[in-house]
Formats: sequence, C-alpha cells, structure tokens
Amino acid sequence: MSKYFVTTPIYYINDKPHIGHAYATILADVVARYHRQRGNEVVFSTGTDENSQKTIQAAEASGQELGVYTDNMAAQWEEVWKALNISYTRFVRTTEADHKKAVHEFIKRVEKSGDIYKGTYEGLYCTGCEEFKRESDLVDSKCPLHNRLPDKIKEDNYFFKLSKYQQPLLDFYKKNPDAIVPASRRNEVLSFIERGLEDFSISRPKKVWGISWPDDKDQVVYVWFDALINYLTVAGFPGEFSETWPADLHIVGKDITKFHSIYWPAMLMSAAIEPARRVLGTGFFTVEGQKISKSLGNAIDPLELIEIYGVDALRYYLLREIPLGSDGEFTRARFDALYNADLANELGNLVQRVAVMSNRYLEGKIGEIPPHSHDVSNFELAMGELRFEKALEEIWVLVKGLNQYLEEEKPWTVAKSDLDATSDILHHAISDILQIATLLLPFMPSTSQKIASIFANGTINLDAGVLFPKADTIEKTELEIKG
Ligand code: ME8
Ligand code: MG
Repeated sequence: MSKYFVTTPIYYINDKPHIGHAYATILADVVARYHRQRGNEVVFSTGTDENSQKTIQAAEASGQELGVYTDNMAAQWEEVWKALNISYTRFVRTTEADHKKAVHEFIKRVEKSGDIYKGTYEGLYCTGCEEFKRESDLVDSKCPLHNRLPDKIKEDNYFFKLSKYQQPLLDFYKKNPDAIVPASRRNEVLSFIERGLEDFSISRPKKVWGISWPDDKDQVVYVWFDALINYLTVAGFPGEFSETWPADLHIVGKDITKFHSIYWPAMLMSAAIEPARRVLGTGFFTVEGQKISKSLGNAIDPLELIEIYGVDALRYYLLREIPLGSDGEFTRARFDALYNADLANELGNLVQRVAVMSNRYLEGKIGEIPPHSHDVSNFELAMGELRFEKALEEIWVLVKGLNQYLEEEKPWTVAKSDLDATSDILHHAISDILQIATLLLPFMPSTSQKIASIFANGTINLDAGVLFPKADTIEKTELEIKG
C-alpha cells in the first residue's frame, strides 16, 4: 500500500471560511478520496495559520482574549469542513506544540547550511498578505489583493539566503516539469525565478504573538516561514517523517503559489529535505470580477449554500464550474442552472426513474448486479491531470448516455407486453448507475453512497429518498412512468 499526502493551505483565522477556502479544501478532499478509493493510505491535512498579525487584530476587534479567540475560530473552521464532508486526517494549528518544535528544528538545519544572517529590512509590508512588498507589486501604491496601502517598515530581521537557490530551483523545475500545475502557473513561477531572487526576512520584531526565534527573545519567526513548515509538522518532522514526506500535492491558490513553489522548496533544499512533488495553483472565485476575500468583505458563506442546495450540490458546483487554474465568477444563477440541469434533472431524475420502475416492474427484486465497465480512460486521464471539471464532464457522458438509452428503450412501454425485456433494460440501467456512483464517490460522497444504498442487497430501497429535490421534476418523473 503506498502512501499519498495531500494538503490544503492553512487558513488565516481573522474570519470564518468563505467559498474560496471551501474550493481549495474540496479539491484536496476529492484527491484524498480518489486515492483512498484506489487503496492508498492517505494523509490529508488542513488547518489554521494562527501566528499572524491579522489574528491579533481580529481578536482585539472581537473583544476576546487571544487564546480564546483562536480556539473558537479553529473550532468554527473545523465545523465548516465537517459540514462539507472533508475527510482530513490532521487539522494542524500553528500554535500547537509539535509545530513549534518542528519550526525550531527546521531553523537549526537552515542555520547549519549557513543560510541565515542578520540584516535590516526597510520597505513595504502588507498585513493582508503578511508579505513584504516591492513597488512593482502595487497598483496605485496599493496592494491589489487587499486594496489598501502597505505599511512602511524598517526593522532588524534574520534573513534567508533565497538568492543562493535561484539555480537549484531552476534545475529542480527542469528535472520535474510537472512539479507545478497548470502550465500557466509554472511559467509565471519560472519567469519570477529568472528575474532574480532576493533574500527575504524570516523573522519580525516580537509583538505579542508568534513563534519565538530560537535564542533571540526579541524576534518571532516570520509567519510565512512558520506556516510553510506546517506540512512537515504533519509528516512527523523532526521525528520519523520519511514515510510521509515528500508531500505528493500541495493545493494552493494562485495568490500563494510563489510561497509554495519558490520559498518553500528553497527552504527545504537548505534544510536538506526533498521538495514536495507537486503544487497545484488554483484560480479564484470572484464576485463582480473581484476575488472573494475576507479582507474585501464580499465573502459567501458555504454553510448558507449547503442549507439551500445541500453539501454535494455545493461540491459539484465548485468543482464543475471552473477549469483548473482559471478564475470563475460565482453566481447564484449559474449555481441554479447547474443544479437543475445536471443534478436534479440528469442525475437525480435518472436514479429516481430507474429505482421507481425497478420497484414496480421487478417488484423490487433486482438480484446481484455487477457495475458496468464502460471505458473510463478519459476520466482517469483527467484525474491524473487534476482536471476535475473534465472528470465530471466524463461522468456526465455516462449519465447522459443512460438517459438517452432509456428514452430509446422505453421500459415503461415495453413493460406492457414483455416483462423479461423490461428486466433486461432495467438491469442494464442499474448496472450503469452503479458505475456512475463509484466514479462520483470522490466528488459527491454522500450522493454516491445514497445511490449505492438504493440498489444494495438485491432489492430496491426507496427509503434513501430523492437525491436532488425539485418539486416539478419529481412530479414529472411520476407522470412519465405512469404514461
Ligand atoms: O494565504 N477563490 O491563508 P488564507 C479561490 N495562511 N480560492 C480562494 C479564494 C477565492 N476567492 N480566496 C481564498 C493564507 N482562497 C495563508 C496560507 S499555507 C502554508 C498559508 C483560497 O486564509 C486559496 O487556496 O488567505 C488561497 O490560496 C487560500 O484560500 C488562502 O487562504
Ligand atoms: Mg488571503
């Protein structure tokens, strides 16, 4: 059994999750479930990035004591992931003891490589990004992601010799062309490296909060340096971590791809640890063209959407809507359209029709039905490329194909004269549905289970209920069957 290690970003907890965070986390869950389904042991981590200036500000604004605030927020994030059916195996918090230990040990290794020196940073800092900025990163002097002026700071810091890793990084990406996907993101990263890498600060003057710098009580570890190391913490570093490391896949948004595909592999090289195998840099969900963001206040709450559409419909919408790496506009109109067309009509109605007809014409007794074995090599190909929208499209080729088969065979008409032939048609249909359910498992786990349970144990179990309720669709199904 081989091990597969997939990660989400660890999120800032200055607010609750919105659908952008849900997107990255659902992507990782699909990957985790897909590999589990294929018999791999999966380590799947998500968590919270707590040692941030933003945490302090948010705790102050909420009137709660820091520790209470972070506990409450971490619990709130976990709750949303549970509601989204996220099958993580570790929820890592950067305030945990094992993480602090990992950070300290990591710094020791980097120090041993001679890659840390003391210096003075003078320049810009965006607290929204928790990032040192150059003038060239700004638009109208503002951080374009947070739409505000960065702070001008001058402070003594420890620096990391990133410049030393320019060539090793280029070599690494030459040898591992798939280490960043999609290709557009890889090109961005490569041209960034080729423009020249500057050393960066990896500590900040201590203010209230953060992981203390080893042997310097006036400094804390820069929050990004601390945060990236979470992936090693999860793997068990500095203990026995080679079973789990290197991570197979870091899923991150394009806003933080640079950290994951430049800083992080360089840090690992310095510590003499292998870089992760692959980074997936996703696009953004936007509202009226603007990135959905905690800081911009245009957030959409996944829990509200679950309430309206159900968890699997939300997973489906987010996974189906935008091609890997691209941005996409979030709209309720699109969500409604996909829900009605793909889920309620094409899938839900299909399963419902076949279940009701099997119950009626086969008197509920269906016997052993092996899943169909339609060729799904295009599906597998899409999964290998992490193109989930394409993989779902491939599943819908089967869904549409089966709908068409039933329209052509008309088992409800055949049943008037030939019950054996009706039985053959329905067995064929159930068999297809079971294959569809298997393929759907990573994407819509509870729908997949529900479908399988309808046709389990050689009988029809109608108690499983309607998959994607839509009053008019369900009525129509009944009418069609009667006709
Ligand atoms: O950056 N559309 O945390 P963060 C799609 N703590 N994805 C989005 C999104 C949107 N509108 N908004 C956010 C941090 N995301 C750091 C990470 S990791 C060592 C440290 C997703 O709370 C996307 O994956 O700002 C993005 O990279 C992540 O949330 C950033 O979350
Ligand atoms: Mg952010």
